Amino acid sequence: MEKELNKLQKDALNDISVADSINILQDIEVKYIGRKGLINEILKGLKDLPDQEKKIIGPLSNKVKQEFISALEKKKNHLEAVEIEKQLKDEIFDITVPGNARPIGTIHPLSQIQFECENIFNQMGFAVMDGPEIESEYYNFEGLNIPADHPARDMQDTFFLSDKHEEKHGGLVLRTQTSPVQIRTMEKYGAPLRVIAPGRTFRNEATDASHEHTFNQIEGLMIDKNISLANLKGVMMEFLTRLFRKEVKVRFRPGYFPFVEPGLELDFSCLLCNGKGCSACKRTGWIEFMGCGMVHPNVLKAGGVNSNKYQGWAFGFGLERLAMMRYGIEDIRHFNSGDLRFLKQFKL
Ligand code: DAH
Repeated sequence: MEKELNKLQKDALNDISVADSINILQDIEVKYIGRKGLINEILKGLKDLPDQEKKIIGPLSNKVKQEFISALEKKKNHLEAVEIEKQLKDEIFDITVPGNARPIGTIHPLSQIQFECENIFNQMGFAVMDGPEIESEYYNFEGLNIPADHPARDMQDTFFLSDKHEEKHGGLVLRTQTSPVQIRTMEKYGAPLRVIAPGRTFRNEATDASHEHTFNQIEGLMIDKNISLANLKGVMMEFLTRLFRKEVKVRFRPGYFPFVEPGLELDFSCLLCNGKGCSACKRTGWIEFMGCGMVHPNVLKAGGVNSNKYQGWAFGFGLERLAMMRYGIEDIRHFNSGDLRFLKQFKL
């Protein structure tokens, strides 16, 4: 028995010494001290040995087991160290290799021009307002002096989200214009006011190179005690001159919008021909720019502003046309296309 144990120990230590991987070492561990391992089997058999032998084989087999475990441990540490050494050598981290550049996005051309407009109006003392894109029929139409049966509704067919009719606010629509923000702002802040309201607007439109169902407007509203169209003319001349960085002239023409009286259209002098007439301005020397006028007393009333004390003007223009002129974009549908070839041209 003693001889057998000595041989077992020799074999075990030899196995360990020739093992050249952690996996093999694990097999060796199972072979000798696993549940049915050779050394463990001897320990389990101890109880059946005569006392005499038990006294010798007992301590001896424990000693063999301890020595086996410590040899195993030592070899394991050694193999692990070798493994790490090898990894360090194989996986050299070259800090001189250039990194992967992360693509940086660009600001959408409409946002760029919107921010520019906001800055200019800010400098002239206008605050920037926001309003919901899903708007009630009341704010989008009735409050702006466009009752349900008014023919002006035909020009602004839109997407109706519900036909539920509450007493005041009616159903919901995708707003056709930023004008509803006029009433919301008057309701919230009262007079006097000097604000613009940029934002997305929607119409049920057959799309082509100059029409989109989703587009952007900037609304303007100025209310105070002695406000006239002269102020509007001055503000717009200044605004356009700063935006285009060259002297721009403006002119009024009569126009019709239910929420202003008188209602006007404002044109500015063609930037390409300086008013001489070219193909961009259809030989007129003028570019049609926006609707505007003196705010209708009914609209002031809807906003809770006393029309005997205050008056003011409002305007609304499309951002797309401005951006198209500024950058020479020929088709309005590029803006919502999500085409990176288009968008990447407008790096700031
Ligand atoms: N909301 C009008 C439109 O979308 C534009 C407009 C015209 C706005 C006259 C105004 C205004 O504030 O006074 O066609």
